[in-house]
Amino acid sequence: MNNKFRLGVLGSGKGSNFVAIADAVAAGKIPADIVAVLSDVETVGILAGARERKLPAQFIPPGKFRTKLDDDAERAYIEALQLAKVDLVVLAGFMRILKGEFLRTFAQRVVNIHPSLLPSFPGLEAWKQALDYGVKVTGVTVHLVDQGIDTGPILAQQTVPVLEGDTPATLHARIQEAERELYPATIAMLARKAGEKAG
Ligand code: GAR
Repeated sequence: MNNKFRLGVLGSGKGSNFVAIADAVAAGKIPADIVAVLSDVETVGILAGARERKLPAQFIPPGKFRTKLDDDAERAYIEALQLAKVDLVVLAGFMRILKGEFLRTFAQRVVNIHPSLLPSFPGLEAWKQALDYGVKVTGVTVHLVDQGIDTGPILAQQTVPVLEGDTPATLHARIQEAERELYPATIAMLARKAGEKAG
């Protein structure tokens, strides 16, 4: 019987974090399987990447709102993840706020990556916020998701220097490099912990 830790990945963008996680799973560095990849955007890198890797990929329309899922969409996401029997919901650039029902269903089982050292610079384009503010060090945070925007207990952080002459693009690229290390490593830690608990 396959009782590996089961990951459901949600994203809205190009999917570089998804690729890093999928590569780490394939290389045996994360003791888990990716059992669902869901997106609120139909033609997007993360779904293409999942299909290329022969992983179950699904576009689920988000409904009528711009920043959150409507009730029907929320139910559809919950059902897809339950059907796939996910142990951990991994937000990898999923640009919708998740609310009550979803978070109650997967309590303490939703993780997110954010491109800053939270609680600094939550929200959109955190690398640009950091540059505009003039901080000399920023970074990456992996955290459990609660009802807020980029809030919830912090699981791991990695610093990234802001260099003289950085543009939003160069800083974002450096931050994404750190994300590609920190997210797989943190998910591997969670998968191992769950494995130890299960005996
Ligand atoms: C990542 O940089 C992630 O940190 C950010 O979206 C990007 C997705 O990139 N998430 C947030 O800003 C959440 N508030 P990807 O599609 O290449 O993984």
